[in-house]
Amino acid sequence: MTVRDILKMGDARLLRVAEPVPLFDTHELHDLIVDMRETMAAVHGAGLAAPQIGVNLQLVIFGSTAENPRYPNRPLVPQTVLINPVITPLGADEEEDWEGCLSVPGLRGVVPRWSRIRYTGFNEKGQPIDRTVDGFHARVVQHECDHLIGKLYPMRVRDFTRFGFTEVLFPGISEAQDD
Ligand code: NI
Repeated sequence: MTVRDILKMGDARLLRVAEPVPLFDTHELHDLIVDMRETMAAVHGAGLAAPQIGVNLQLVIFGSTAENPRYPNRPLVPQTVLINPVITPLGADEEEDWEGCLSVPGLRGVVPRWSRIRYTGFNEKGQPIDRTVDGFHARVVQHECDHLIGKLYPMRVRDFTRFGFTEVLFPGISEAQDD
């Protein structure tokens, strides 16, 4: 399969509202997910949304391993394929933390997100997913699902004194070149 090009902020395709996936467990869907996994692994991403490779479908993948150099010291998030997701915030609490995005290379910013959410959707076989999560897991899901409504994390930044180049904000982070 293929490592695909990741669209960068400024590309109008990143601003679209994605369409629901109409059919599960098809060859096309499995091939797309293989490409997304290879693309995400090639750049050490923690998540990738189909619109980031120009496919306007409600499909995101995410998950972290202990070895991910872009997100050291972060809790593990299970490797997940999430299709046609719905996010429900649980409570009004928000928390702030740094985010980066493969479509916004070289930059990081502090983004407020719901602290605790429930998310539902389907995996690639059409089996339902229903999870209640918080912290980094909740942040990753909110970031990825924002790509499905044409939102990139800089659009969520409220305090631009905490937005800038990774190499300046976090000197010594080795992966700054491919963030
Ligand atoms: Ni992103």
